[in-house]
Amino acid sequence: MVGSALVRRFRSEPGVTLLLRSSQELDLTGQAAVEAFFAAEKPDLAVIAAARVGGIHANNTRPVDFLYDNLAIAANTLHAAFRAGVKRVLFLGSSCIYPKLAPQPMTEDCLLTGALEPTNEAYAIAKIAGLKLCQYYRRQHGVLFHSAMPTNLYGPGDNYHPENSHVLPALIRRFHEAARAGRSEVTAWGTGAPRREFLHVDDLADACAFLLRLEDPPDWINVGTGSEVTIRELTELVAATVGFRGQIKWDPSKPDGTPRKLLDVTKLARLGWIAKTGLEQGIRETYASFLAEEASGRLRR
Ligand SMILES: NC(=O)c1ccc[n+]([C@@H]2O[C@H](COP(=O)([O-])OP(=O)(O)OC[C@H]3O[C@@H](n4cnc5c(N)ncnc54)[C@H](OP(=O)(O)O)[C@@H]3O)[C@@H](O)[C@H]2O)c1
Repeated sequence: MVGSALVRRFRSEPGVTLLLRSSQELDLTGQAAVEAFFAAEKPDLAVIAAARVGGIHANNTRPVDFLYDNLAIAANTLHAAFRAGVKRVLFLGSSCIYPKLAPQPMTEDCLLTGALEPTNEAYAIAKIAGLKLCQYYRRQHGVLFHSAMPTNLYGPGDNYHPENSHVLPALIRRFHEAARAGRSEVTAWGTGAPRREFLHVDDLADACAFLLRLEDPPDWINVGTGSEVTIRELTELVAATVGFRGQIKWDPSKPDGTPRKLLDVTKLARLGWIAKTGLEQGIRETYASFLAEEASGRLRR
């Protein structure tokens, strides 16, 4: 999802040539292949958006995959970029690097101040290692390696897999299928009370372009909207957008998860960037791309 958004953002930028490889062409967990790619192509700049990504279920049941793959991707790409003389790297982490009980909204300096959320600890540890590697390459070797920590993302190219997807794409799929089947009710997990933040992926790509223009960027910086919705509001918005007319029931015997997860985006706003896409508009556009991806057989499910 993010890689495609970066391509949309950069492909018309004057003077930019994109060097793209699919995961089939270049497995970033293989050190020798990654070294060979960077040594041959010698890019001026790299954005590390590749990662093993998934929802709570996948993270919780396959921690080895999430820690090993993401550690290998970070270590291989950053080291190979350094050896090939790449001048600038932007590494993408995630808001889940911050402690489970971090004060809300979460500022950049709450990193490593407490225990992580156990269900995504493996993924978070790999992302923290990547962010720290960037900071240390910059400190030890003077190269401009820096990181961005996006909040929950959504948009074209998202993953709609029933077990591996995140909450927003999962809701889109669920309510789309219920609406299509003419179901009269859908039961949602928990109370709907938790609050979450969502950023359109094209806004993230724009934030990356902004950060890549800064002469002296922070080692890592939060990228979000700074605003939040309850899961109940989100669910109702998705249901209305996909045309579900039935009843939404809540099952409070299912876990709610963390009550609130919001990034503090003051630092990025002070530097001059704010998100542009409202949630209602973003979900409407994302549902349109969901339908187009489904019709063309490109939907990730
Ligand atoms: N989605 C979110 O809500 C979110 C939130 C915060 C941060 N992020 C960060 O944003 C970045 C992109 O996430 P996304 O949502 O765009 O995920 P995504 O759609 O699943 O994209 C991840 C990409 O990485 C590729 N990849 C995975 N393992 C690889 C490997 N070993 N070698 C080469 N390529 C590999 C995948 O290729 P295949 O599909 O072919 O395997 C896929 O193209 C990640 O760093 C993630 O941590 C995402």
